[in-house]
Amino acid sequence: MRIEFVPADAAPGAGAAIAVLAHEGGVLSAEAQALDSASGGALGRAIAAGRFTGAKGQSIELLAPAGLDAARVVVIGAGKPNELDAQGVENAAASAYRAVQASGVKELLIRFPSEPARTALGVRLGSYRFDRYRTTEKADKKPSVETVRIAAADVGAAQAAYEPLSAVADGVTFTRDLVSEPANILHPVEFARRVKELERLGLTVEILGEKEMADLGMGSLLGVGQGSVRDSQLVVIQWKGAADPNAQPIAFVGKGVCFDSGGISIKPADGMEDMKWDMGGAGAVAGLMCVLATRKAKANVVGILGLVENMPDGAAQRPGDVVKSMSGQTIEVINTDAEGRLVLADALWYCQDRFKPKFMVDLATLTGAIIISLGNDYAGCFSNNDELANNLLAASQKEGEPLWRMPMPDAYNKQIESMIADVKNTGGRPGGSITAALFLQKFVNGLPWAHLDIASTAWKKPSTVPTIPDGATGYGVRLLNRMVQDAYEG
Ligand code: BES
Ligand code: MN
Ligand code: ZN
Repeated sequence: MRIEFVPADAAPGAGAAIAVLAHEGGVLSAEAQALDSASGGALGRAIAAGRFTGAKGQSIELLAPAGLDAARVVVIGAGKPNELDAQGVENAAASAYRAVQASGVKELLIRFPSEPARTALGVRLGSYRFDRYRTTEKADKKPSVETVRIAAADVGAAQAAYEPLSAVADGVTFTRDLVSEPANILHPVEFARRVKELERLGLTVEILGEKEMADLGMGSLLGVGQGSVRDSQLVVIQWKGAADPNAQPIAFVGKGVCFDSGGISIKPADGMEDMKWDMGGAGAVAGLMCVLATRKAKANVVGILGLVENMPDGAAQRPGDVVKSMSGQTIEVINTDAEGRLVLADALWYCQDRFKPKFMVDLATLTGAIIISLGNDYAGCFSNNDELANNLLAASQKEGEPLWRMPMPDAYNKQIESMIADVKNTGGRPGGSITAALFLQKFVNGLPWAHLDIASTAWKKPSTVPTIPDGATGYGVRLLNRMVQDAYEG
């Protein structure tokens, strides 16, 4: 699908669909009014014929209206006239695309009053599909739209504003593709290989195998992958976009459990297939690095991915085992299903030990408990630093990726005291996401750090936002890119 910006008065191609906005109370936008006049009031009559009020989320479609050179007109509800922000525009654009996607039209001409670049981003995000394994899909279910033309008052300005947003769409798409892949295809070695391909964008990608990690003393991470026939991998991605390439970097660390069976503490069969998504944190970090390189961000950024597969096997680690982490701290593995924190323990330590970053943010589908705490829309933010947490929360608001700060009371550390080792890897059911975060904090050596528990947001079924189709969301890519851009560039 191609996206191009065209002048505001550009005519639709033959057989195209046109999308316009209407506001609450059935008030037509200027672009909709023009179509209404040219069609002798067809839009007004169509609105009067049904329940369309112009509220967000509504739409109506007119087929081949007399007097117009269009196969279809889609009127998208945009809510109250003064309340349409950039996110509203993205959603309206995604809804417009989805309304005609498989209708048979090949061109969609979008005439919105403002924000053409965000319109393009909305179309890109809302049109995402993961098609790789469909071989028998009926032709009439496949997308028919080949070109989306977006009317802009200033075509050059729209194109320029879209450039960094196109990088965002590329990064989110990269993440969604990784997260959508089944675990028989995307095991740690294949994940690392795909990230290595990002070197074409100017990133440096190093891959550490099990031998290198053993030499570094990463007994915690390696214990998780021990029952898998796939080798565990630690991927180190670097982007040096700051004026001084040696300036202190910022760092992002992702949990990449390519499949989480639970290990010997095996999960119930029902829903276990969802655990192919347990690499969503690493997927988001990879997508973020893709965005930063594509838009040539003026910052030095490190991305670290801890990639493992958690499987039961004769060689798998057992409940009760004690492992030694790279930090030197010993961990009693009470439950082999609390594996994400074991992976992050070594990845976080390695990150600060090698790069001494200004701060670290980790992303992880870490606990089912965060879904119980916050539901399906909000990710949890845990941090030892108010400035970092506030930057993350501000970015979350701007990009529409909801995030909520959670407490980290010192007293709850009692729940993860071990009888025989320095710490144990589970703290029981009360505050399960909090004790997981407190566990991670033991592997952070005082520097500003935040942990985003994205178990609630890495995938959605069904989706609730037009820019996020069912399945992998790419949550975190936009948020972190925004935070880097607003707080750490220039
Ligand atoms: N990957 C899961 C967390 C998860 C659960 C993500 C549901 C998405 C949806 C994680 O590794 C896990 O199994 N956590 C356990 C921890 C428990 C054993 C202390 C959990 O949340 O039950
Ligand atoms: Mn688990
Ligand atoms: Zn997991």
